[in-house]
Amino acid sequence: MTRPFELCGVPLRGRVLNGSGTFDAVAAHRAFGDELLEAFPFDAFVSKTITVEPREGNPPPRLWESPAGLINSIGLPNKGVAGFLREDLPRLGELPVPLVVSVMGFSRGELGALVAAAGERDEVEMLELNVSCPNVETGLVMGADPAETAAALEAVRPLTEKPLIVKLTPSATDPPAVAAAAEGVGADAISLVNTLRGMALDPRTRRPWLGAGTGGLSGPAIRPVALAQVAAVAERVRIPVIGMGGIASGRDAHDFLAAGADYVAVGTETFRDPTAGRRIASELNVISREERGFSEAAVT
Ligand SMILES: Cc1cc2nc3c(=O)[nH]c(=O)nc-3n(C[C@H](O)[C@H](O)[C@H](O)COP(=O)(O)O)c2cc1C
Repeated sequence: MTRPFELCGVPLRGRVLNGSGTFDAVAAHRAFGDELLEAFPFDAFVSKTITVEPREGNPPPRLWESPAGLINSIGLPNKGVAGFLREDLPRLGELPVPLVVSVMGFSRGELGALVAAAGERDEVEMLELNVSCPNVETGLVMGADPAETAAALEAVRPLTEKPLIVKLTPSATDPPAVAAAAEGVGADAISLVNTLRGMALDPRTRRPWLGAGTGGLSGPAIRPVALAQVAAVAERVRIPVIGMGGIASGRDAHDFLAAGADYVAVGTETFRDPTAGRRIASELNVISREERGFSEAAVT
């Protein structure tokens, strides 16, 4: 298989990843069998975010469909790092594409423990730091503040030689400043955006629909916000940028690349179409070929 692209030194066959937490590759393998592996929808696979301790996630209901979007309050249910490494990682290691493990710590120490434990496993090619959570020691959302992000990254950078991707929250006041701070202390790539805080009311009771009260908005509704943030971050940093937020077609993906992203990720669209990653990649190839045709025609 040819791998003409390269992200942080890891060869990739294309430029379309999944958004963390939006595609369960282990369950999909069970449902679709080896056909899934033969035509895997993404060029690298990003795991759901794992935490040190197991988490049950938020109380139901956890999803609300909004106009052109989805609000989720899943709440990071996961087996904890020990369960993940023992049960899920060997299966994810069988995927035909490089594996990125997403981690979230509620303190710099927790983040470090996750990075060290996942980073030493051969199945793991890269780590993504999901910094959209409060640091229980400082009370600050790690990824909302440049100094807090830099301090977290400085603490974990020496613990692995594997590439570290920092995933930004769109709720930061100045996402390019957060990205620049991460780059300054050794981040290898930036991914953005995570979800935006949203709320929906039960039409009968006028009480919050979601068990957690609020959740994260994703899907086409957030695409213009994501595109603006990706453009601003790409302008500011030299490391690769992975853009996401409402990408549902090759045209959308092409917009993110034109705005400065090096790679794109697809999340909510895979709920409608589990093969969306492949479709978007092939639409993107057609658009790129057409563009090359136009520019060659203009030269001749
Ligand atoms: C149901 C659901 C679960 C998610 N879980 C995670 C997660 O575990 N870790 C994370 O970094 N982002 C998570 N996200 C955010 C996505 O990875 C992505 O950043 C966001 O949804 C924007 O992309 P999209 O509009 O294409 O979905 C989740 C999103 C959804 C919809």
